[in-house]
Amino acid sequence: MAKVRFEPAGYETEIAPGTRFIDVTDEHPEAEVPYSCRSASCGTCRVAVVEGMELIAEPEDDELEVLEVFGDDPKSIRLCCQIRLRSEGRVVLRVVEP
Ligand code: FES
Repeated sequence: MAKVRFEPAGYETEIAPGTRFIDVTDEHPEAEVPYSCRSASCGTCRVAVVEGMELIAEPEDDELEVLEVFGDDPKSIRLCCQIRLRSEGRVVLRVVEP
């Protein structure tokens, strides 16, 4: 399992490798991650990966394209509607203000 913390909400939970973060936040709205398209096109769900980027699966092309539009570095910012946990550890995500 991995410990995941969502900022600025301060919500923390444990998830298993392979879990999609959007499923976690759908189940726990108290994580307070905003979504719109839910399919890597709007950028509403951008999160800064404060800790544990190495535990998150690599981005696909459609995610990279959206991050590029916003001028975000995929080594520090990801789309919460696209990311999936790869391995155990600790992940801290902070919602990027629009
Ligand atoms: S909700 Fe639109 S890119 Fe994630």
